[in-house]
Amino acid sequence: MVKIGSIELGDFPLLLAPMEDVSDPPFRALCKEQGADVVYTEFISSEGLIRDAAKSVQKLDIYDKERPVGIQIFGANLNSMLKTVEIVERSNPDFIDINYGCPVKKVVSKGAGAGILKDIPLMVKLTDAMVKHTKLPITVKTRLGWDNDTIFIKEVAERLQDVGAKAIAIHGRTRAQMYKGVATWKPIADVKNNPRMHIPVFGNGDVDSPEKAKIMRDDYGLDGAMIGRACIGNPWFFKQVKHFFKTGNHTDSPTISQRTTMARRHLEMAIAWNGDRAGLFETRRHYTNYFKGITHFKDYRLRMVTANTKEEVFQVFEEVLEKFN
Ligand SMILES: Cc1cc2nc3c(=O)[nH]c(=O)nc-3n(C[C@H](O)[C@H](O)[C@H](O)COP(=O)(O)O)c2cc1C
Repeated sequence: MVKIGSIELGDFPLLLAPMEDVSDPPFRALCKEQGADVVYTEFISSEGLIRDAAKSVQKLDIYDKERPVGIQIFGANLNSMLKTVEIVERSNPDFIDINYGCPVKKVVSKGAGAGILKDIPLMVKLTDAMVKHTKLPITVKTRLGWDNDTIFIKEVAERLQDVGAKAIAIHGRTRAQMYKGVATWKPIADVKNNPRMHIPVFGNGDVDSPEKAKIMRDDYGLDGAMIGRACIGNPWFFKQVKHFFKTGNHTDSPTISQRTTMARRHLEMAIAWNGDRAGLFETRRHYTNYFKGITHFKDYRLRMVTANTKEEVFQVFEEVLEKFN
């Protein structure tokens, strides 16, 4: 049984990765419904939360139906991070995750996200202080290192565990790689195989098929798979992986009717949560994947992503159903 603190997650949990502008409450709920064992919020800026910035505060929205849910925060200033923990606690998440992996320049340049991989003592100090500041489990998501010459993840993970981190999720790329090339899972397995490690080690990066999830479990021996891009517009992915684990077979692809129904629910939930305009925008990035593999689909997709009202989008869904079902 894999556990984050006392939260039981089953044998090889599948985690919905934190993804900005993707892992919002509607999408998390759909993924949960389709088998995600743990979900994370989008990353939230510590400084933004302290300033009470609307965008940051909204990301604190979590719901009982999606539990266990971790709220992910990023920042590099100790006092701000401690204040942030206090703010986040009020939303009552199951755990708080620290983002030590975001490669984006505007985050890294402030020493936050993957920027902290250049200052491991600060990373350890921040984690230590945050663990001591809350009763909630603190977990960490990070990358292998800053670049190829600084892959010290085995030692780093051990130090984070020693100061009380309750789980570590590792994206098998360095900051220098950004999202390029192929994720390397061997250094993640080295962390897991360190006999001193006892907290869960979750693998992340390029799990885009049930087979890959199985390789991560069976060949690399990791404690769970964190899945990002493969489930955008494809919340079924979690069920597909679980079915494959159980039977060794693939599930049928979702039918056109299942796809239009899911996409419609997604849009309705996004609008209910965030209003018409934002709801329309938020769901746009999912449509390509919801309808992946359908030939001659371009014009329908274009209409979905340029529609100005939900009725227009629903109308396109109806036409898709009629034409391709
Ligand atoms: C659109 C997008 C937004 C992301 N936002 C975050 C984020 O807020 N926090 C975070 O830790 N990682 C973020 N990531 C990284 C993912 O969590 C994950 O580490 C990465 O996509 C690799 O996993 P995958 O190959 O399964 O997608 C983001 C990735 C994408 C594609």
